[in-house]
Amino acid sequence: MPQRETWATRTGFILAAVGSAVGLGNIWRFPFAVGQEGGAAFLLVYLLFVVLIGFPAMLVEFTLGRRTQKNPVGALAQMGGRTWKLVGLVFVVTGFTILSYYSVIAGWTIRYTFASLTGAYTADPEAYFGAVSVGFDAVAFHALFMVLVIGVIALGVRSGIELAVKFMVPAIIALGIGLAAYAFTLDGAGAAYQFYLSPDLDVLAAEWQSILPAAAGQAFFTLSLGMGVMITYSSYLAEDRNLASDGAIIIGFDTAIAFLMGLILFPFLFTAGVDPGEGGPGTLFISLAAAFAELPAGNILGAVFFGTVAIAALSSAISLLEVPVSYVIDEFGVDRMTATLGVGGLVFVLGLAPALDLIFLDLFDLFADAILLVLGGLLVSIFVSWIVPDEALDELQKGIGELGSIGTAWVWAVRIPVVLVLAFSLYLGIVGYIEFLTTDFADWLG
Ligand code: TRP
Repeated sequence: MPQRETWATRTGFILAAVGSAVGLGNIWRFPFAVGQEGGAAFLLVYLLFVVLIGFPAMLVEFTLGRRTQKNPVGALAQMGGRTWKLVGLVFVVTGFTILSYYSVIAGWTIRYTFASLTGAYTADPEAYFGAVSVGFDAVAFHALFMVLVIGVIALGVRSGIELAVKFMVPAIIALGIGLAAYAFTLDGAGAAYQFYLSPDLDVLAAEWQSILPAAAGQAFFTLSLGMGVMITYSSYLAEDRNLASDGAIIIGFDTAIAFLMGLILFPFLFTAGVDPGEGGPGTLFISLAAAFAELPAGNILGAVFFGTVAIAALSSAISLLEVPVSYVIDEFGVDRMTATLGVGGLVFVLGLAPALDLIFLDLFDLFADAILLVLGGLLVSIFVSWIVPDEALDELQKGIGELGSIGTAWVWAVRIPVVLVLAFSLYLGIVGYIEFLTTDFADWLG
C-alpha cells in the first residue's frame, strides 16, 4: 500500500479549499440572489449565515477529515461504523451528480470564451445560447472540460490539485479585480451599485420566509459544504494547524470574491440596458452575452470574463471529482490513474443527459443541490455534534489549544442552529422537488 498523499504546504491546502469554494455559485447564484431577494438586506442575512452556520459546519468537516486521514466514506465508517458509512456514500453520489452537470455548464463557459473573441453571439444572444447549450456542441465542450478535470486529478494531490490552484486562484482574484475596476468606469455603475447595495429593511421584514432559506442554501453551496469536499481536503493535512483560522481565511476569500462578482455583473448589465432578470445558468449566458454585445471592447471583455468563470469552475470541479476518486483509491486499493479515469469517465457519461436535454440539468441540480447536499450536511452535522462531539473537539483543539467554552459554543452551534436550518432547508428542498417532478418534469414526460 503506497503512502497516502498530503499537501506540500498550508497555503496549498487553503488555496485548494478557496478554489473549490469559488465557482459558478459565486458568479451567478450569489449576485442574482442578492438582486432578487432584496439587495443589501439579503446580503446581511447571508453574511450572518456564513458566520453562524457556514463556519461551524466547515469545522465539522475539517475535524472529521484530519482526524481520520480518510475519504468521507472511510472517515464516517471509522468513527461511526456501518450506519454512518452510508452518509459517506451519499456524499460520493452527490459529488458524482453535481459534477455531471457542473461540467456541462463549465463547458459553456469555455465555449463562450472563444465565442466572445469571434463575436459569435453578438447578433442574437438568445438564439446562440439555444444552439450551443445542448446537443453536439454541449457534449464536445463537456468532454473537453472533463478532460481538464481528469488531467488535474490524475496528477494527484501535490502535482495536480495543489499546483493547479497555485495558478488558478491568484488568476481568478487578479482578473476579478481588473474586471471590477473596469466595471466601475461604466456609465451604468451608479445605478448598478444602488440596486446591488442599497439596503431595504422593509423587504427583509416582508420576505424573510424566502430570504432565510435562500441565504442558508447559498451559504452552504458556496462554501462547498455538505458533500465531503472539506473532509477530503483536510484529510490530506499532515500537520496539526489551526483549523479555525484556516476556515476563516477560506470563508473570507470566498465571500470577498462573491461580493466582487456583483460589482462586476451589475454594472455590465445596467450599462448595456439588460434586465438583471431571473437567476440561473441560462441568464448568465444570455444576458451577459447581450451586455458584451453592447459594451465597448465587449469581445475582449467577454473573453476575459468567461475565461475567468471557466477557471473558477475548473478549480471547483476538481474538488468534486476528488471526493469519489479518493473513495475509490482508499477503499478499493485502486491506483489514482485508474480511479480517476474510471470515475471521470462515468461522470462524463452521466453528463450526456443534461448536455442533450436541459430538463436533466434542472432534474439533477434540484435533486443534488436542494436535497442531497443538505441531507449530507445535516447528517454529518448530527453525527459530529451529537455522536462524537468529544473526539471532534479534541481534534479541533490540536493546533489551537484548550478551547473551553468556545469549544462548547461550537458544538452547540452545530447541534441546534445548524441542524435546524438544514432540516428546514431539506424540507423546503423536498417540497420544491416534488413540485418540479409533478409540473415541469411531468410536462416533459408528455
Ligand atoms: N462551491 C462551488 C461554487 O460556488 C461549487 C462546489 C464545488 C460545491 N464543490 C462543492 C458545492 C461541493 C457543494 C459541495 O460554485
